Amino acid sequence: MEVEICVGSSCHLKGSYEVVKVLEHYIEENDLKEDIRLRGSFCLGHCTEGVSVRMDGKVLSLSPENAVDVLRRRWEAMQDAADQF
Ligand code: FES
Repeated sequence: MEVEICVGSSCHLKGSYEVVKVLEHYIEENDLKEDIRLRGSFCLGHCTEGVSVRMDGKVLSLSPENAVDVLRRRWEAMQDAADQF
């Protein structure tokens, strides 16, 4: 799964660096480096809702506090969907 974290100025001010750090930690801890790839992104066009993160083509609004929960839920949902085929 591709995860793009906006590092544009508005999202940067709202904590994109901290979001990157907590997600990197989660991926490392759960040995998901092969499955989830983090990338920085320029402005995703949702500056007022940042920190903007695109997962699977969908732009979500994350914070350092909810980032791990959101990533875990989306990852688990993808796994469940994959299991059905
Ligand atoms: S600066 Fe992040 S969406 Fe615009």
